[in-house]
Parts: sequence; C-alpha cells; structure tokens
Amino acid sequence: MQAKDRIVLALDVDNPEKALELVSRLKDHVGAFKIGMQLYNSVGPDILEKINEGGSRVFLDLKFHDIPNTVGAVSRVAARRGCWMFNVHAAGGAAMMTAAAQSSREEASKTGKNPPLVLGVTVLTSLSQDQLNAEIGIPGSVEEVVSRWALLAKESGLDGVVASPREVKAIRQTCGNDFLIVTPGVRPLWAGTQDQKRVTTPREAVDSGADYLVIGRPITGADDPIEAAQRIIKELEE
Ligand code: C5P
Repeated sequence: MQAKDRIVLALDVDNPEKALELVSRLKDHVGAFKIGMQLYNSVGPDILEKINEGGSRVFLDLKFHDIPNTVGAVSRVAARRGCWMFNVHAAGGAAMMTAAAQSSREEASKTGKNPPLVLGVTVLTSLSQDQLNAEIGIPGSVEEVVSRWALLAKESGLDGVVASPREVKAIRQTCGNDFLIVTPGVRPLWAGTQDQKRVTTPREAVDSGADYLVIGRPITGADDPIEAAQRIIKELEE
C-alpha cells in the first residue's frame, strides 16, 4: 500500500462547501475521507455520494449500535450508498456485528457495489480504566477488554477495528495480521496535540502495526494542508 493511501482525512466540519473544498484540495494527497456524526447530521447523506462522485473513498464513521435487525438494516443503507468503510460498536455483541457484516455484503452484491469494509469500535479511548470498571461495570484492564472485543469482532466477520495507537500491538497479537487496524490520535512531532492525549506519530502507529491513520487537524488546520499531508507521507515513506 502506498503511504498516501494510509491517510484517512477527518472531515470535521459542518457545512458541505467546506467539506467538498477539503476533498477537492486533498483528494490526490490522502487515501480516503472520514464523514463523522457532525458532518453527516449537519448536511445529510448526500455528502457521501458527492464525495464518491469525485472518485474518493469514504469512511462512514457513524458507529452504529442497536439491535441486530436495525443495525443490519442500516448497514444495507450504508452499502447501497457506496461507502468504502463503516463502523459499529463491538459492545453491541456478536449477533449485531454479524448482521452488519452479512447485510452490508449482501446489499453490495445486490446493487453491484464494492462490499464495504466493516470495523468494530472497541473501548472508546475517552474512557479511563476506572470508568470502564466502576462506572460501566466491565471488569478487566482496558487492554484486555479491547483485545477480547477485537477478537469477537473478527469472529463475527468484521474486517477490522478502530483503536488507539497504544492498543495496536495487543490487537495484532490477538487477531493476527489479516485484520485491519485503523487508528486516530496520531500526531506528527511538528503538529500540536490539541485535545488528543495519548498520541503517537504516524510513523510509530504504522510501525506498531496500524493499517490506516485517521488524521484531522494536523492537516486541515495547517497553513498549507497539502504540504502537511505531503510531510506526513514523506515521514511514512522514510
Ligand atoms: O483532528 P484529529 O486528528 O484529532 O481528528 C481525529 C478524528 O478521529 C476525529 O474525527 C475524532 O472524532 C476521531 N476519533 C478520535 N479518537 C477516537 C475515535 C475517533 O480522535 N478514539
């Protein structure tokens, strides 16, 4: 895979003009664009088709979490609309993840689209050990729970997981090489960390086993976003 293709640019804006401007400026310098809840709920689903029409791939980051029937149904919609990748919460359980994987593949083949990659979200990186155990009542260390849920995602037919760069090694050990790991929270040394706390550099994330890197502000907030993307690509290639 080319270094550029590892970068998934987070379109964390809330109007379509800004989003499409970022897409047209950066489409030749990153591998895909991430539509999250903010953009999707601000401008609606048409933004997905518009980005696809321009020839770019979309990671639909809406983190579905509901009963298997409902998640299966919305996974069909995601596949029909033609996203490259979407995600569901692993906490929804094996039946829910299986429904997402099977329904999206079925719908893609019915409608002649490429089947989307389906990822599981394990333990949210914003949760502390104490919150996981005492507040939500899930025992075990964050790393143990992340590894267990990642394996469950794999056994349920998902293609990979979204995880913090610090969990990548444990997931690789548990789930093997044939499983995608997508990591946000990456920061080049020359970029500010903003509200991200446990960051690694893009290079460290890939070296520890990440396949794709979700990057937002280090590129979108740079004076010259193309130059920032090129710099990250160069660091990945070195
Ligand atoms: O601007 P920045 O590079 O921090 O953007 C990271 C993107 O990844 C945002 O869209 C954020 O919502 C998302 N994300 C994250 N940490 C997670 C999960 C998702 O930063 N644990």
